[in-house]
Amino acid sequence: MRKVILISSCLLLGLPCCKNSTKLKNKNTDLESRWVKDPHSYAKPEEAAVTSLDLRLDVSFESKKLNGTAIWTYSATDSARNIIFDVRNLEIISVTDGDTTALAYELGAVDPILGQPLKIDISGKPKYIEIRYFTTDSSDALQWLTPDQTAGKKSPFLYTQSEAILARTWIPCQDSPGIKFTYSAKVNTPPGNMAIMSAENPQEKVPSGLYDEFKQTKPIPAYLMALAVGDIEFKATGPRTGIYAEPSMVDTAAWEFAETEKMIVAAEKLYGPYAWGRYDILVLPPSFPFGGMENPNLTFATPTVLAGDRSLTALIAHELAHSWSGNLVTNATWNDFWLNEGFTVYFERRIMESLYGTSYTDMLSCLGYGDLELTMNDLFETGDSADAKLKLNLEGRNPDDGMTDLAYEKGYMFLLLMEKTVGREKWDPFVKKYFDEFKFKSMTTEKFVDYIYANLFAKGSEEDKKINMNAWIYGPGLPAGFSEPSSDRFNKVKQQANQYLTGKLKVEKIDTSKWTSHEYQQFLRSIKQEVKLNQMQELDNRFHFTNSGNSEILVLWLEASAIHEYKPAYPAIKKFLFSVGRRKFLVPLYGALIDNPNLAMMGRQIYTGARKNYHSVSVRTLDEKMAIVPIVSVVE
Ligand code: BES
Ligand code: ZN
Repeated sequence: MRKVILISSCLLLGLPCCKNSTKLKNKNTDLESRWVKDPHSYAKPEEAAVTSLDLRLDVSFESKKLNGTAIWTYSATDSARNIIFDVRNLEIISVTDGDTTALAYELGAVDPILGQPLKIDISGKPKYIEIRYFTTDSSDALQWLTPDQTAGKKSPFLYTQSEAILARTWIPCQDSPGIKFTYSAKVNTPPGNMAIMSAENPQEKVPSGLYDEFKQTKPIPAYLMALAVGDIEFKATGPRTGIYAEPSMVDTAAWEFAETEKMIVAAEKLYGPYAWGRYDILVLPPSFPFGGMENPNLTFATPTVLAGDRSLTALIAHELAHSWSGNLVTNATWNDFWLNEGFTVYFERRIMESLYGTSYTDMLSCLGYGDLELTMNDLFETGDSADAKLKLNLEGRNPDDGMTDLAYEKGYMFLLLMEKTVGREKWDPFVKKYFDEFKFKSMTTEKFVDYIYANLFAKGSEEDKKINMNAWIYGPGLPAGFSEPSSDRFNKVKQQANQYLTGKLKVEKIDTSKWTSHEYQQFLRSIKQEVKLNQMQELDNRFHFTNSGNSEILVLWLEASAIHEYKPAYPAIKKFLFSVGRRKFLVPLYGALIDNPNLAMMGRQIYTGARKNYHSVSVRTLDEKMAIVPIVSVVE
């Protein structure tokens, strides 16, 4: 019996099972001492954990519901009596053994953040667990778009966003990043639609609308479950890359992201083979709440990166990098979020450096550092300075609230410091080995530190003292002596911006001959607060910022317009807020409006009208910001 338990534990935690029993024992002790409870899941994987999913979904745009059947296999200890799933706002119809036998189940009390535990009796050791269910209007992962919220204006569209803990709102699952499973799926859609998932995907529409060959053969956590359905077309951009988008967007997107294959080659050269087969990108309608989401095989991306000049493709490098950091080696809980995002920002910039050189990535690092400063100001002034640590404590909270830029940019700076301290000759092979050794497993911050001590430098060594991991990981903000990113190109921009603000440089003399969109971004960041109204007018006359097709530039300009009451940009503010749902843009722009007493009312009015266009993720953040009390509806 002991052997069974040990083997199960290995399976449960995604560890390779070893034939040799002493090895097993060691692994097990190791695991027991390291077992971390995920505060955001009811699952008890140490007793019973899922291993594979066969999912059937019927998509109804009419009722805005998914009718689902989730057939799970699992692995359990001999003594396990129950398996616990996470569900939130799902209507459970039945639970059976995959055949005719009903399994007893119990839905626990509703927690507004976590939802409910679904506890299923497995004392009869059923081979399968089949759960039939419906999603509801409160299934927050789903956004059902009406035709006029799409580019084509003709067909409705559905997409999901599961990270961090929204997978449980559309699939009954063990919604913890440390629990991985493979999946297959059949999705039935109204004819005329294409369905695609974080899996092997079709490239053409099936006339019947039934897509029955989805397969994800690599184990993934629930937050990487993803689905999109709509009038979607595919276009190849390389041997293993392509674009999915609404027909009117496909060509534009294929041009913008034509360098994806080069990015994959650069990434593989750095840190080992791309493990997932194809890498495609789905360009979503503009309500998508994030820049990108690293769904395996199929990155979901906002159309706001289609700048027309390929200048915002670092976002693709970022989501691609997650194919290693995050999707292969996954943060064990959301408290270790920086392991996903900090690593990915670091890797993203290494990819961009291979393609475009250091002067380019220096600019990216500076922009990132600017974001970090703003986030830290917020956290130290009004937020919780505990959120300014890499290792988070999100227990009892919605993890989304503590997942800030800090994990990205402080995480990046920490890893960069390690790279600089030990040198790339040592650092790069170390990172490659880390990804290889822990692929398809999960990682805690503590385990990562131990791994560094065992494989990069010794505890108490000169390198160790110089880096001071403790301060970086467990201390708030940036440790004393950190080095601030700098960029020669930006230094020149800042100099011109200052001269312009103080009237020493005339608008027509601003030398933009060598500027890329990043320099424009830095220029606007530098002048945003202090620029005068008449200067806004002359800048607009020269650079046409109000009509900028680059969303990063436009949003900075609109923010400045709200701060300084530059009226010619008001229609553009309204248009932007009605169409774009990317939270990173909405928060500062609404912020600028409501912080200006003369525009607060306009901000609230726009929000009231535009709110229906946003995904629940953005709505939740903005309701709080705009002081709107949401109507909470929970299915019991
Ligand atoms: N995985 C994140 C998106 C995410 C984070 C979703 C937390 C839910 C909770 C994704 O990889 C990401 O970081 N996106 C960034 C873009 C990036 C270039 C920094 C975004 O959306 O802004
Ligand atoms: Zn990311």
